[in-house]
Amino acid sequence: MKPVRKAVFPVAGLGTRFLPATKAFAKEMLPVVDRPLIQYAVDEAREAGIEQMIFVTGRGKAALEDYFDIAYELEATMRERGKSLDVLEPTRLPAGALASVRQQEPLGLGHAVWCARDIVGDEPFAVLLPDDLMWGNPGCLREMVDDYEEVGGNIICVEEVAPEKTASYGIITPGATSGNRTEVKGLVEKPKPEEAPSTLGIIGRYILQPEVMRILDNPERGAGGEIQLTDAMARLIGTQPFHGVTVGAKRYDCGDKAGFITANLALALEREDVGPAVRAFVADLR
Ligand code: UTP
Repeated sequence: MKPVRKAVFPVAGLGTRFLPATKAFAKEMLPVVDRPLIQYAVDEAREAGIEQMIFVTGRGKAALEDYFDIAYELEATMRERGKSLDVLEPTRLPAGALASVRQQEPLGLGHAVWCARDIVGDEPFAVLLPDDLMWGNPGCLREMVDDYEEVGGNIICVEEVAPEKTASYGIITPGATSGNRTEVKGLVEKPKPEEAPSTLGIIGRYILQPEVMRILDNPERGAGGEIQLTDAMARLIGTQPFHGVTVGAKRYDCGDKAGFITANLALALEREDVGPAVRAFVADLR
């Protein structure tokens, strides 16, 4: 079984739910406490043993690459002023560990992943959507890689979603369940509640086999007129093992304003530096 060494971060979306903040600014650079969303996703990938990060970017997303680069002027000035550079440590990646490719038009998540096909090559790969902030120890992808090492094939992260919310998710048709792992018998993107095969929704973490790229070579438009990753994955079912896993990490949907604010509050409360002040403020709320 080939190890999962590469991860694709599709970050070319328009972020319309966060306008006007995202008019001239990547959604993935929005900070939760003091780190941008992309940092949490890259940290999670590193913890899971990922060696190469592949960003699928678009116009206005240059800050995402600059963020993981050396900031000579900033660092020289900080040194001159005797300030420690330790705070920048999480932004350091080994040479060659970051690749990026452009998605010229936001045609959908399936299309974004396909744009990375040549860099991914013929090996299994992870996909992380940074706006799903997964917070837990072990991290979400680490748990999924452990599952992958047991059963191989394709692994997607799933979560029980509210029955009235199925039209916001890809939903699985579940087969046999063993512990946290459920066999995936079918997949449908954004079904209406009355048509949903279950309430197990796909969230933004995947481990996929490279064959999905061959399916995406000839894509079909799916829900919302977009090239959906879910539709391509559905065609792998029956040809390769396919499992949905639930994980211990908690999900904050930071593509959504309420989810983003909740994430800031929850993570701030855990911090030694800002936690006490935020806790005092919250305690005073009525
Ligand atoms: P979303 O559905 O959250 O879309 O995409 P979005 O454009 O980012 O945000 P809204 O809904 O307009 O507010 C899920 C993930 O897929 C990426 C996004 O960047 C996000 O990480 N994506 C989506 C692409 O990279 N390209 C696409 O064509 C579509």
